[in-house]
Amino acid sequence: MQTLITNAEIATLDAHTSSMKTAARYSNPLGLFSNGYLLARNDQIKSIGPMADLPPHLVDDPSIDHIDAQGRLLTPALIDCHTHIVHGGNRAREFEMRLNGASYTEIANAGGGIVSTVSATRAMSVADLVRSALPRVDALLKEGVSVIEVKSGYGLDRDTELRMLQAARLLAVERPVRIVTSFLGAHAMPADFRGSPEDYIANICIPALLAAHEEGLVDAVDGFCESIAFSAEQLAPLFAKAQELGLPVKLHAEQLSRCGGSLLAAKHEACSVDHVEYANEEDVLALAKAGSVAVLLPGAFYTLRETQKPPVDLFRTYKVPMALATDANPGSSPLTSILIAMNMSCTLFGLTPAEALAGTTRNAAKALGLDDTGILRSGMRADLALWDVEQPAELAYRIGLNPLYLRLFAGQRK
Ligand code: NIG
Ligand code: FE
Repeated sequence: MQTLITNAEIATLDAHTSSMKTAARYSNPLGLFSNGYLLARNDQIKSIGPMADLPPHLVDDPSIDHIDAQGRLLTPALIDCHTHIVHGGNRAREFEMRLNGASYTEIANAGGGIVSTVSATRAMSVADLVRSALPRVDALLKEGVSVIEVKSGYGLDRDTELRMLQAARLLAVERPVRIVTSFLGAHAMPADFRGSPEDYIANICIPALLAAHEEGLVDAVDGFCESIAFSAEQLAPLFAKAQELGLPVKLHAEQLSRCGGSLLAAKHEACSVDHVEYANEEDVLALAKAGSVAVLLPGAFYTLRETQKPPVDLFRTYKVPMALATDANPGSSPLTSILIAMNMSCTLFGLTPAEALAGTTRNAAKALGLDDTGILRSGMRADLALWDVEQPAELAYRIGLNPLYLRLFAGQRK
């Protein structure tokens, strides 16, 4: 099974593109070149380069699916590296309450917020969870997404956490998409739990993680480090257990206040630290040393009408790669458009459109610890997006127009 794309404007997102003599590495962070071709064999990129290097017989080979891009832009398929897309119910009522002046923290402290989604999620079967998540997944796929990270964290008990992760895995059976899971048992304290946070982590959260890991349901371990959730100290035993199991960690940190999550995450060489609006220079330095990715979530910033922006200039100065994601969830970010997340990251946080594209491809792959996707290079997965645009900046520029022309998943039109 081979697919050949010809006459494309290509953004490889690959620093090594410079070795093709088609792009200069430092002036061309997107690895952009014109009149290119890409040949996929099975689910991998076989070769990529300028049309001049394309063996002519391939164009007429009837066994090859040939797509003439006619100058359209070819990029790696997009990656949504932070979502809570599997969940029960919705929180439109809290949206109304916030518009009437209640804050996210007040609603959470009054028993709403994450804990209210927990009740709705606990009432759902695996099949219900899959069915309710699919329209949200489809919205992302229509925008050229090939990988979705999905968190648990609305169960806060062993069985529901497991059902959420089983549902997440099933999304990849129902749709042509790759799912990466994160166990987020430390998302909030369940309302019906009477013990202390330490007790919850030791007696509910860690046993649930062990059970989920046993079933092969966990790709990474996540937590919510915040005054309305868990302190860095309370999360430390969970991360120690993750390390013992050989699982990578990531963390919701410094979203509403500076709580020390970035330093804890850096200590455990986290793949990513997410939100990070309140991160300071010490945090950014620690993330740089740890090789962690900063995942920016402009949908939550926008929805909560946050005013503290993530320290984008510090991330640039200390070369912390920035990714961005929808954070698709029923409370703080009911967003299922990765293109709008890209637009928001530019308008609200000051990312360049090139940084926004790197943030949903190369850096998003790194945030998930994936080394076979997010850039176009021979040997990488042939998960591709072909766009009806003239230049890459258009992907982040329009709001609400979807310029996807074609998505290829594992080398095939999907
Ligand atoms: O990423 N910050 C914590 N978790 C989610 C919010 C989930 C919710 O409000 O239901 C987030 O924003
Ligand atoms: Fe989140």
